[in-house]
Amino acid sequence: MTTSMPSGFSKKSLLDYTASQRGSFEKTLKELVEIPSVSAEPRHQPEVAEVVSRAADLMQQMGGEVRVLETGGHPLLHARFEQSSDYPTVTVYNHLDVQPADMSDGWHTEPFRFVQKEDRYWGRGTTDDKGPALTALWGAKYALAHQTPINVNFLWEAEEEIGSPNFESTVKRHKELLETDSVVVSDTVWVSRTRPACPAGLRGLQGFRFFLETGETDQHSGTSGGAARNPVAEICQLVADCFDAKTGDVKIPGFYDDVVEPTKAELADLKKSGFSTATFKKDHQFKSLRVTDPVEIMKRIWCMPTFEVHGIEGGYHGPGVKTIVPPRATAIVSCRLVPNMDARKIVKLVRAFVKEKNPDVKVQAEHGLPAYQGHTVGPHPDAIRAAMNFAFDKEPVFVREGGSIGAVVPMEKVLKAPVFFLGLSLPEHGYHAPNENYDWQQAEGGMIAFADYFRRVAAIEPAS
Ligand code: BES
Ligand code: MN
Ligand code: MN
Repeated sequence: MTTSMPSGFSKKSLLDYTASQRGSFEKTLKELVEIPSVSAEPRHQPEVAEVVSRAADLMQQMGGEVRVLETGGHPLLHARFEQSSDYPTVTVYNHLDVQPADMSDGWHTEPFRFVQKEDRYWGRGTTDDKGPALTALWGAKYALAHQTPINVNFLWEAEEEIGSPNFESTVKRHKELLETDSVVVSDTVWVSRTRPACPAGLRGLQGFRFFLETGETDQHSGTSGGAARNPVAEICQLVADCFDAKTGDVKIPGFYDDVVEPTKAELADLKKSGFSTATFKKDHQFKSLRVTDPVEIMKRIWCMPTFEVHGIEGGYHGPGVKTIVPPRATAIVSCRLVPNMDARKIVKLVRAFVKEKNPDVKVQAEHGLPAYQGHTVGPHPDAIRAAMNFAFDKEPVFVREGGSIGAVVPMEKVLKAPVFFLGLSLPEHGYHAPNENYDWQQAEGGMIAFADYFRRVAAIEPAS
């Protein structure tokens, strides 16, 4: 057992380090944020490649052994900082791709300009996930420079925001290179600034596009309306058949069959998580909600599956009323999945339901992600607890989180390494929203938490 604390790991020395590194951290974050690495948009494919190559240069300059792995989609970056094969290896996972962003979504500053005001940074990707990625890197730099007996590898993905479609096959192909004892992911969000949180699980996701075409071109609704089918309306009807928009209840037969509802004990735990309905509404800028009871909200966002409509495409969107009958429409929808649900089974149920309700609608299913159940007990979760407590003066709560990270299940499955989470984002940072931001408090605390986590993991006795 290592009981003595190396002098370099006092709070004071770590705070001196973060203060001295702030300028270079911000400069690097600016560089990455200003590359619009939007994985979902084909026109941004060169910038996705560019952000990976920029990150590869960065790792190389720091002395890492860097590989950019082809995936068939966007590349995957691996960098090794190996000190000795006798030491345990931790792999840090983050993603460098971002969600789309457009000024017209309500940004107050250009989404791909890094704007700093005092301790806050704005720009797409600042919190999801370029800021946390660099925070972890700066934490690792410290640990490696202070004789921590550990090897640190970085696995930075560039297609997380499109569901990691090529991640598992690429990791399989490079299993030896990617070998690791454990993984730590920094891509999750706290309950509030005053309450650090770690995911006890993540929801899975199954996305769909429903497409209907009933004509070739727009037609005058006076000359054909009444007899012509209206694909926008039929698509709306179909979506309304799938679920009750007011309550959120999914009406597809069999949808809830495999759901394991949270236990009484789990619901009681939620009460202690620090969640508040008022803060939730404010952080996410909601005017009203389906439900207001905090436990019911937490149950819905963390523990239950959903059916969601992301957008409906088709018809007229300009000023006034253009009196046409549109020829085609698409609904973009998805289901969040919880443990024990099977994405492939949900695809089957949805296809059968759509076929029955509207056989002309074509269903395109996206790459599905299963839900994930995390580890909350053992030496690594304890190291996470202690490191967060050390850095932020508050123990994290372990609660399920509602989002999805496609890489997590494949890393456990293929690399046979347990995955742990040290997330740093806050609800008010605006994941996927306009005016996404990150801040120096989270970066500074995060660097300290990561450095401390590596020191603690190095001291964990290997299981025999
Ligand atoms: N960082 C999020 C995942 C997340 C969100 C974790 C909220 C915990 C709480 C990630 O970048 C993300 O947005 N994932 C997508 C994946 C999807 C596009 C396949 C998601 O959850 O929608
Ligand atoms: Mn993310
Ligand atoms: Mn995201």
